[in-house]
Amino acid sequence: MDFVLKGHIVYNESPLKLHTSYGYLVCVDGVSRGFFDALPNEFSKLPVMDYGDRLILPGLVDLHVHAPQYSFQGIGFDLELLDWLETHTFPEEAKFDDSRYADVAYDFFVKDLVEGGTTRACIYATIHKESTLALMDKLEASGLVTMVGKVNMDRNSPDNLCEASAAESLLKTREWLETALEKYQHTYPIITPRFAPSCTDELMQGLGLLVQEYREKAVRKLAVQSHLSENPSEIEWVKALCPGTECYGDAYDRFGLFGKSVDGEPVPTVMAHCVYSADKEEDLLLANDVTIAHCPGSNLNLSSGIAPIRRFLKRGIKVALGSDVAGGTSTSMFRVMSDAIQVSKMYWRLINQEDAHLSVPEALYLATIGGGSFFGKVGSLAEGYEFDCIVVDDLAWRTPKPMNVIERLERIIYRADAAQVKAKFVRGVQVK
Ligand code: GUN
Ligand code: FE
Repeated sequence: MDFVLKGHIVYNESPLKLHTSYGYLVCVDGVSRGFFDALPNEFSKLPVMDYGDRLILPGLVDLHVHAPQYSFQGIGFDLELLDWLETHTFPEEAKFDDSRYADVAYDFFVKDLVEGGTTRACIYATIHKESTLALMDKLEASGLVTMVGKVNMDRNSPDNLCEASAAESLLKTREWLETALEKYQHTYPIITPRFAPSCTDELMQGLGLLVQEYREKAVRKLAVQSHLSENPSEIEWVKALCPGTECYGDAYDRFGLFGKSVDGEPVPTVMAHCVYSADKEEDLLLANDVTIAHCPGSNLNLSSGIAPIRRFLKRGIKVALGSDVAGGTSTSMFRVMSDAIQVSKMYWRLINQEDAHLSVPEALYLATIGGGSFFGKVGSLAEGYEFDCIVVDDLAWRTPKPMNVIERLERIIYRADAAQVKAKFVRGVQVK
């Protein structure tokens, strides 16, 4: 359907520059036709949805979130990553072998995602093929545009959450891929080795070849997601498990799972965290055009550290944001934006005064164009972008103090969990 929205239009013209205007935003065939102070004649027959004094923002993109972990968010944060995985995460994910449990749990997750400001996401499921497809069914029905991974794990995992062999894991992955590619319009499979410690070289190699095979058959260019350099103990473990690697990223790169296939072609790849990516790894991230999913809330909760986002941005490395639920405690990308700003302030104050903290416009940029670019021409309200947007209602917070639109945006970000998403559109379809 083609239509027009009316309200305060806000989006990033660049990382530092916000556009704000009051007027009409036009959607034709799922794509923005731009915005106007007065509606041009050619669009005068289209229905207008008038959102009054509310803000219209680009849809928010969560480039790293674990759907099965939604069930236990907020628990276990006295532990660091590896103990948290063993004590809380793996036992919960093992339950997704049971399709009835998965059905209930994934319903809650998808409903939450639809309620909030997220329009697109890169999502982990579990190792289980059937419940991963059940999650994808629900996401497809929601209207959100997502990439979803059946997780691969064939070592260093509990018996009830470990695939029997690399061959078994690859077979299940192939079966899942075939079904998913056939079945969905806007729910895409993404290759998901959990992280280097839980995948044998044989499995990694097989996944790299699978990515290459699907490209060669021109079925679909498969993307890859995984975790990278999140926690010091994890990094030491990877050094021991993957001898001969030059850095953690190399454990993926050598198998064609780090932005480039083994035959040197681009593979869209997102790596979560990168708290401790040192020079060599940064070079590789940049050279291979890998996107970093910065997950500041998770990095606080699990005492992981602060990723040097300003440094990545100065170097031209691509950065997006991730809630990393349940490392993060909220699926709200407003919350992730304020976490990102706040940790960058502490990084500047305590670690490096050369690295200025992130500003409000930069945080919005990372949550919209930063993550949106992983999906194509996504993340802006300007003409030609896919029509993803949210209408945000802060009217319940009325105060006698007059506020301009930029001040209202700042409050929406910092008071994240109180922001109401009144309406949401993805590729021109209203999903809320
Ligand atoms: N590394 C491997 N698995 C996980 C996970 O589930 N969450 C986080 N934060 N890091 C991981
Ligand atoms: Fe994660």
